[in-house]
Amino acid sequence: MTTTSPALPSGDSGTGRAAIAARTLRTDRWWMPPLVTAVGLIAWIAYATVRVFVQKDYFVSDYNYLTPFYSPCISTGCVPEAAHFGRFLPDLWFLPYAALTLPFLLLFRLTCYYYRKAYYRAFWFSPPACAVAEPHAKYTGETRFPLLGQNLHRYFFYAAVIISLINTFDAIVAFKTSDDEFGLGLGNLVLVFNVIALWAYTASCHSCRSIIGGRLNHFSKHPVRYKLWGWVSRLNGKHMQLAWFTLGTLALTDFYIMAVSAGWFDDPRIIN
Ligand code: FES
Repeated sequence: MTTTSPALPSGDSGTGRAAIAARTLRTDRWWMPPLVTAVGLIAWIAYATVRVFVQKDYFVSDYNYLTPFYSPCISTGCVPEAAHFGRFLPDLWFLPYAALTLPFLLLFRLTCYYYRKAYYRAFWFSPPACAVAEPHAKYTGETRFPLLGQNLHRYFFYAAVIISLINTFDAIVAFKTSDDEFGLGLGNLVLVFNVIALWAYTASCHSCRSIIGGRLNHFSKHPVRYKLWGWVSRLNGKHMQLAWFTLGTLALTDFYIMAVSAGWFDDPRIIN
């Protein structure tokens, strides 16, 4: 016996939609979440783009503070002390100093399950909100190029783990001052806080949860993975909040390091 799938309802004229003339019967401010999402994402992308291409005020040499937007710094234009992994990219104005990792970070966030929902709603209106018809006549989901590429998220997760390790390394190196002594300042706390937040977001990833707890028939035979899966699942429940929170910590960490590097104020020191 063969079965045929019903056509997917889509748009105002979708075959699966009730014959309602109005675009939606919702009377609440359903447009507010997508609007806030769009404004927040545009503001963050604008800030990050400017910072990534400005190629200055990214490193505080006295305390080894390196902003995550320039990590790892691998361009020949990088300050030598900031280049923990060598300098081998040509120094060109259109090439970010961290050009090796930034595309992977971007793709990690772009293919994230939460951000997908956020930008499908905020920018593509597909749909803009629950029970609000989308303006598109056709709906193919993520079955075709380029959205088929969303399935690569798991691989970008692996890249994000490596980049989080690099960010962790940066935070540890920053405890050493330029005089080779142990130092602790507000900048260290900012860097460490950002790294913890980044790990929380990365660990809360749906792919991470699936990698840790997936493909098992019996949790009882894998107690360690079960335990880890439980922790990751709890974080996973906060994935949306962590997605936004880490956008905030990334921008604030970068801003703080830019401000100290540019001499707008001194880093308050606790030790050395
Ligand atoms: Fe959001 Fe993986 S699902 S980072």
